[in-house]
Amino acid sequence: MIENAIGMVSFPLGIATSFRINGKDRLIPMVIEEPSVIAAASKAAKIAKKHGGFTMKADESYSIGQIQVVDVNVKSAISKIKKSSKQILKLANSKSHTLSKMGKGAKQVSCKTIKTNSGPMLIVELLIDVGDAMGANVTNTMCEGVAPLIEKLTGGRVILRILSNYSTKRLVRGTATFDKEEIGGQKVVENIILAYQFAANDPYRAVTHNKGVMNGIIAVANATGQDTRAIDAGAHAYASRMGRYSSLTEWKKDKKGNLVGKIELPMAVGIVGGIVNVHPMIKVCTKILGVKSAKELACVIAAVGLAQNFSAIRALASEGIQKGHMKLHARNIVASAGIRSDKIDEVTRRMIKEGNVSVHRAKEILKEL
Ligand code: MEV
Repeated sequence: MIENAIGMVSFPLGIATSFRINGKDRLIPMVIEEPSVIAAASKAAKIAKKHGGFTMKADESYSIGQIQVVDVNVKSAISKIKKSSKQILKLANSKSHTLSKMGKGAKQVSCKTIKTNSGPMLIVELLIDVGDAMGANVTNTMCEGVAPLIEKLTGGRVILRILSNYSTKRLVRGTATFDKEEIGGQKVVENIILAYQFAANDPYRAVTHNKGVMNGIIAVANATGQDTRAIDAGAHAYASRMGRYSSLTEWKKDKKGNLVGKIELPMAVGIVGGIVNVHPMIKVCTKILGVKSAKELACVIAAVGLAQNFSAIRALASEGIQKGHMKLHARNIVASAGIRSDKIDEVTRRMIKEGNVSVHRAKEILKEL
């Protein structure tokens, strides 16, 4: 899969349970090194199930390819591109017979001008329906394929030909209702909404709030072989779309006082291509998840992001994060204290009982044993 490989670093694979997404129950593979994330997602999913689970919807899988044109008379170039858009699309689509046969592929050409310190530039964008693939390769191939024609038509010079990871034509959105009684009553609901308002209005909190969302998203993306950097980059840019970095989720009360969460973000994922059909464990995970399309996968991933965010802010707005987190992290602490494997369980048990989880205490308990 990569160059100069010398080995593998493996991460734990777990299964989140209790998820109902668009009426379908799912077991969700998650790959993550952080304790408590999978437990938190499963707990949130169980609560959401009482009100039907997660209702999610994904856009068609439209990828955006960008072609940068310089040394050009932008105005006349735009009119030439517009006049020749059919020819450009035909050439782009000749680069993928698979997409063309499925009625997918390049659908639209558009132009925009950007002002730079080196003068105005023309950016030509291809909108490409990439079907069930993440689509980076086909997008780049099409951009490179049409670049000589764009140069010929505009008289300009093309430099970059590459997809944009800001996948705003490939959004996923969804909602879930969390019963007020299940989450500790009206006061907890109100505190969660106040916690959300903090994130919505302060970038320092929003980054951490969204980190919690990404705990869920990236873990499922890892398990299903996605390009997690593309998802991350797109998500954080989307969180800044209003001109200031803010929350990727939104939390409100419904008429009955239950908590309603919403999420919306770009989600460029695929179930064909990339390493999805190559890596044996990714194949197993995709089979466990049972998704039949990239859109379905996007819905699952965003639902886990919303679940994760719910659990994090619920804990933060009530008992605090450390109680549950340290309980689940205790074994790692004991192991890092260098304690023999046959003593790990007992030391962990005693530390949790005492509510004092630390390397120092782990060593003390070992001495006492
Ligand atoms: C920890 O991995 C994630 C949290 O910090 C998220 C949050 O603060 O909302 C708990």
